[in-house]
Amino acid sequence: MPEVEGDLKEIQTLRDTVTVGIDDMAVYVPKLFISTTGEFATSRGIEPAKLMKGIGVEKMSIPDAHEDAATMAASAVLELMKRSDILPKDIGKIYLGTESAVDEAKAMGTYVIGMLEKVYGRGSFEECSTVEFKSACIGASYALESIAEWVGSGARSGSEPAPGAADGQGDDRIGIVIASDVARYELESSGEYTQGAGSVAMLVKKEPRMVALDGAIGSFTRDENDFFRPIGKRVAVVNGKHSNSCYLSAVGGAFASFKRRAQKVGLLNPNNLNISQGESILDRLSYILFHIPYPRMTEYAALSLFRQEWKNLPRWKDVTAEIGPEPSQEMFSSPEDYGKVDAAYNKKFSKSRAFNETFMSKVEPTTFLSRQVGNIYTGSMYLGLASLAEQGLLHAGDKVCFCSYGSGCSALVFSGTIQEGFKSLTPGNVQKKLDARKELSLKDYEDLHEGRKSGSILPPSGEFALMGIDSQGYRLYDYVS
Ligand code: CAA
Repeated sequence: MPEVEGDLKEIQTLRDTVTVGIDDMAVYVPKLFISTTGEFATSRGIEPAKLMKGIGVEKMSIPDAHEDAATMAASAVLELMKRSDILPKDIGKIYLGTESAVDEAKAMGTYVIGMLEKVYGRGSFEECSTVEFKSACIGASYALESIAEWVGSGARSGSEPAPGAADGQGDDRIGIVIASDVARYELESSGEYTQGAGSVAMLVKKEPRMVALDGAIGSFTRDENDFFRPIGKRVAVVNGKHSNSCYLSAVGGAFASFKRRAQKVGLLNPNNLNISQGESILDRLSYILFHIPYPRMTEYAALSLFRQEWKNLPRWKDVTAEIGPEPSQEMFSSPEDYGKVDAAYNKKFSKSRAFNETFMSKVEPTTFLSRQVGNIYTGSMYLGLASLAEQGLLHAGDKVCFCSYGSGCSALVFSGTIQEGFKSLTPGNVQKKLDARKELSLKDYEDLHEGRKSGSILPPSGEFALMGIDSQGYRLYDYVS
């Protein structure tokens, strides 16, 4: 009996001390892009300034004819495995978030494993499980939540499974989360200039070198028709302005939920974030990573969240002294009238000193890569994390807040702490990859978009490629050296 008590104590201690999170990440982007300015803007009759500033996208990554979400996912994992010296036997689970499924039933991860086995040998991933998470752009965050819980349960119970232990316990292997998508809208639609493609693969393990997850997760879910892709459709159906407003209310709701959870798990305590009277949790966050469908959306999100968080704090007096009081909804007979006045107030707030300082230091740097890649749906918030790493902006002890959004709609908010070991990771080479891309003509872009190109623009080399689809619809992939 005393021994059992000892074991329980030990488990409790481990529970308190073991950290789980993102150890390393790899970003894959296709080798082709189209500039939003130039031929594209002219042909669509749009001022380049609108796309560069109003939307914030300068270039969009476009997949070649031999690429899809599965090839991009496999390429990102291969880079991650090689860089971190991981062997297939070290990986217990590969969870994949995507809304660009290539099959209605077969998990994309099985295709990814098939591709990886072309490099590591047939059967090398046999003991690794995989599942596809679908929840629009938030899918990879649910995958991360789940895999972090699995890694944590294995870490807490040691490497030797106890007799009769539940699944996952005693398993000290690592997990991989992949976010992989092709963001595609109708040609000439207002969604077209927010397209993109890419994949982010993240290594999830105990005592991670990059970001340890703090353990509080806020969530929000509501049935909405803001953005969806009915079965059989190649492009999304999108109610653009409505999608923006669903995003804002879902992230606001999840942030409020996150604060409640943070309180419960002691994240706001003096030995942690140490929030005192008159302060906001935002004050303790070094960076706020929003989902980035287009960089400008992060400004809308910050405007909404900062107003929500600041308006009951003493500092709001300084804001109102600068831009006047907030309009009150009761003063308007129709929601439309209130909406117009509130939007005008938001514009003023966007120009206020307090907003600008906070936005420019905590949010704007997260959009660095998205400006050159476009929307990669499930991976775009994690591309924001890569943006910070690329620019050398992450330092040990920094708190980063993840505000993940998926249409339909759902939001998750959680935080993490940058680890000491982060210094030992070489900064990503994403920018180098972006600089080496080939610019597409408008015609080639449109042909690729419409599936009219049978051959590749750049023949595959040193990458995974879709070689064909057989008469039953099974996809044939290979590694082309
Ligand atoms: N110079 C500078 N700015 C200009 C300009 C110019 N010449 N011309 C226009 N602008 C500004 C506009 O004033 C506007 O800014 P403000 O909000 O400050 O006024 C901004 O450019 C955007 O222009 P519009 O309001 O005219 O917007 P739009 O018709 O181009 O549509 C969109 C924008 C709704 C995002 C559309 O691109 C879209 O539907 N995209 C796909 C859906 C999407 O990304 N939704 C985001 C939320 S859902 C989500 O996040 C999930 C996901 O990944 C899809």
